[in-house]
Amino acid sequence: MKIDPKAASTTGAGAPAPSDRNSLTMGPDGPILLHDVHLVEQLAHFNREKVIERQPHAKGSGAFGVFETTGDVSKYTKASLFQPGARTDLLLRFSTVAGEQGSPDTWRDVRGFSIKFYTAEGNYDLVGNNTPVFFVRDPMKFPHFIRSQKRLPDSGLRDNHMQWDFWTSNPETAHQVAYLMGPRGLPRTWRHMNGYGSHTYLWINAAGEKSWVKYHFHTEQGMEFLDNAGAVEMAGLDADFHRRDLFGAIARGEFPKWKLSVQVMPYADAKTYRFNPFDLTKVWPHADYPLIPVGTLTLNRNPENFFAQVEQAAFSPGNTVPGIGLSPDKMLLARSFAYADAQRNRIGANFHQLPVNQPKVPVNTYMFDGPMAYHHSGAAPVHATNSGGRPWADATGPVEDGWEADGPMVRAAYTLRADDDDFGQAGTLVRRVFTDAEREALVEQVAGSLLGGVRSPVLERAFEYWKNIDPDVGQRIEERVRRGGAEEPAAGMGEA
Ligand code: HEM
Repeated sequence: MKIDPKAASTTGAGAPAPSDRNSLTMGPDGPILLHDVHLVEQLAHFNREKVIERQPHAKGSGAFGVFETTGDVSKYTKASLFQPGARTDLLLRFSTVAGEQGSPDTWRDVRGFSIKFYTAEGNYDLVGNNTPVFFVRDPMKFPHFIRSQKRLPDSGLRDNHMQWDFWTSNPETAHQVAYLMGPRGLPRTWRHMNGYGSHTYLWINAAGEKSWVKYHFHTEQGMEFLDNAGAVEMAGLDADFHRRDLFGAIARGEFPKWKLSVQVMPYADAKTYRFNPFDLTKVWPHADYPLIPVGTLTLNRNPENFFAQVEQAAFSPGNTVPGIGLSPDKMLLARSFAYADAQRNRIGANFHQLPVNQPKVPVNTYMFDGPMAYHHSGAAPVHATNSGGRPWADATGPVEDGWEADGPMVRAAYTLRADDDDFGQAGTLVRRVFTDAEREALVEQVAGSLLGGVRSPVLERAFEYWKNIDPDVGQRIEERVRRGGAEEPAAGMGEA
């Protein structure tokens, strides 16, 4: 809705508002009158003008843009947005995981990288992070993990002991924790970090042939990081530093860009690959599956209204389009349920009808009514099948975006592959990807962070955990802690 600068203000019902400055009273000094409908409407609406914040990833911001497919991956997927030459509008929201609305952008944390592609075949959402892996591989652990990063039940404080208690008793966290304690835990801005789909997804081509893929968005601005001291200082100076940076850059016409590449694994390889390709704590080495260029993502338009277009934006890994499917990754399958459920609770049952969430294609859904229903299908039949001429979907038989599964019902970890272990890839990251200076900063960060109230036996478990990742780094962390801790302040993670 555009506001005419000359128009008078109105009530919600569109009648002229009596005054936005003076309430109705019995004489200038007398009591307020209940039939000041305008005052009552203002106060009542004010009480309802927040939606609850996202449970994880509460603090963030975003911008609109476009994805242009410049490569040719049509032999792997028939999805319209990835056909050569396609241009697709999108919304990208960045976030931090653990902090609440208003928490500092520069606390050490994983960053969210959520994209809603408004494709010609419906919305495709890719809800990833700035790291290619995650902390856990079974969704049963996710709420426990997030709670361990949030606040203590009694004091309401964040707590290192709780975080390390969770991490050290779930060794599959090692790879992501190593990322988090390294430079990627402190990106300089959202523009200067990469994004990853993290999970393995299914692509299906026009002939119905399937491949497994991983998405990599590499920043064209170059990867840049803050150091611990800089991040701590910025948390005090400007808690909204990343939000401000993105909005300012786009307002100045400096449109940030990312290049999308994918790793493609032939469908049959998944059965025998040396790592479980659906384990979200692992990467696929590029030597095994090299990057294939797909296209460029550009952010070029700021939101006009933060609440309507960012706060009420609803991303879900369950939103796929023809040519793209999920995979046997247990985390991804659970996420395909969790997000829309959170949004029905957070925004309302008809969240998908809001302009920011609406697809740009005609919708013919058999979901009706509910709070704030806005789009409706008039007097068309509400039941399928029907004889009223309203189409309904009717697939039977094998599904195009499915895979084979068999076996008894169990509660069990994934079957281990030849090279599957919890510390191997974490060690490679710390030894081969991090520079000497980054390894030293990691030792400082971990020693500093551990010092903040981690007690026995978790402290000893943490030394073991790091020695399992890398004996030298583990040894240095233990020595630093035993002789009195870090020389620099630890950046975040929100602890005192
Ligand atoms: C079983 C595992 C997981 C569950 C149950 C889960 C659940 C959720 C929920 C409920 C939200 C809030 C959604 C909303 O209110 O709109 C959320 C947000 C988010 N999650 Fe997850 N999550 C899981 C794992 C992951 C993983 C593995 C990633 C990244 C690879 C991830 C990235 C994000 C991002 C980026 C957001 C913010 C979305 C936005 O910008 O609105 N989550 N998650």
